Amino acid sequence: METTDKLDRAFRPQTLADCLGQNEIRQNLQVYVAAAKARNEPIEHLLFCGPAGLGKTTLAGALAADMGGQLITVNAASVKNKDELRIAILKCGRGDILFIDEIHALKRPMQEMLYTVMEDSRIEVGSDSIHLAAFTIIGATTHQGKLSKPMRERFGDICELRPYSLPELTSIVQRAAGKMSFELTPQGAMEIATRAQSTPRIALRITRRARDFALATKTLVATHEFVQQVCKKIGIDAAGLDPIARRVLRLLAEKGRATGLQAIAAQLGEALETIEDCVEPFLLAQGFIEREQAGRVVTTKGAAHLRTCGFVN
Ligand SMILES: Nc1ncnc2c1ncn2[C@@H]1O[C@H](COP(=O)(O)OP(=O)(O)O)[C@@H](O)[C@H]1O
Ligand SMILES: [Mg+2]
Repeated sequence: METTDKLDRAFRPQTLADCLGQNEIRQNLQVYVAAAKARNEPIEHLLFCGPAGLGKTTLAGALAADMGGQLITVNAASVKNKDELRIAILKCGRGDILFIDEIHALKRPMQEMLYTVMEDSRIEVGSDSIHLAAFTIIGATTHQGKLSKPMRERFGDICELRPYSLPELTSIVQRAAGKMSFELTPQGAMEIATRAQSTPRIALRITRRARDFALATKTLVATHEFVQQVCKKIGIDAAGLDPIARRVLRLLAEKGRATGLQAIAAQLGEALETIEDCVEPFLLAQGFIEREQAGRVVTTKGAAHLRTCGFVN
């Protein structure tokens, strides 16, 4: 199986103008870039918030390219100590962007170190305090609520990415299909977009699977019927639910009472984070489940979907 990361990069827009959707954020970012260039200063530190796959990493990369700087990435969850963070910070030159992914996971001592960096452009190295090059920190988080207030307040702007519209996702699919030399009708592209949970990463994954099936079956042009058949094979239903989302829904329907996320995860043998971050938000947004004090319950709409989705698993 291809590595998603590598492929994600292959289809990543390179500049802000290349990105589709997120228009308000993109326009603001373009203003910040122009202003920073006019003042010959870096952009202020920014926070990107939103669910996985909406384009936080992509926008940071595009911003770095537009600024003419490097993108230096660290994942907060794997930064073990202050030394590791210090090394990443000291790598940043003028105009570079330090992208701190999942910044809510940064441990306390490292958060405090970041405060001084963000506020005074200084860092302690041994007994010295070194003045840092003018660079920008972009923090990304899927859990804005888990970020401390002092951390949030040190960012010049908080950009909340929103779900993509059907036309935006359709364009993203069409552009990616073009790059893969995969012939897809406009209705085929829209069918993919419809099932992509408003998320580019999911849309691109379905597009790649549809291309695989087209190649294997020597299908020259993928129509919306073809996409529907592929989705049936890979377990994605018309509402965009995947097998794990349907298993969660089915479990709740069978229980018939409020069930906590932890119990759901344990019974399905899945990680709590998977259910919490990748499954629950979409089921809630679709109105298929509801949050109650004692846990999650399936709604009438959710139960009806299970009966009509055409999948037994
Ligand atoms: N605005 C966009 N236009 C086109 N493709 C996008 C856009 N946003 C994201 N993508 C694509 O979706 C995938 C996931 O985006 P990514 O930036 O990794 O999301 P996040 O960092 O928020 O999890 C990437 O392959 C990227 O190419
Ligand atoms: Mg990312």
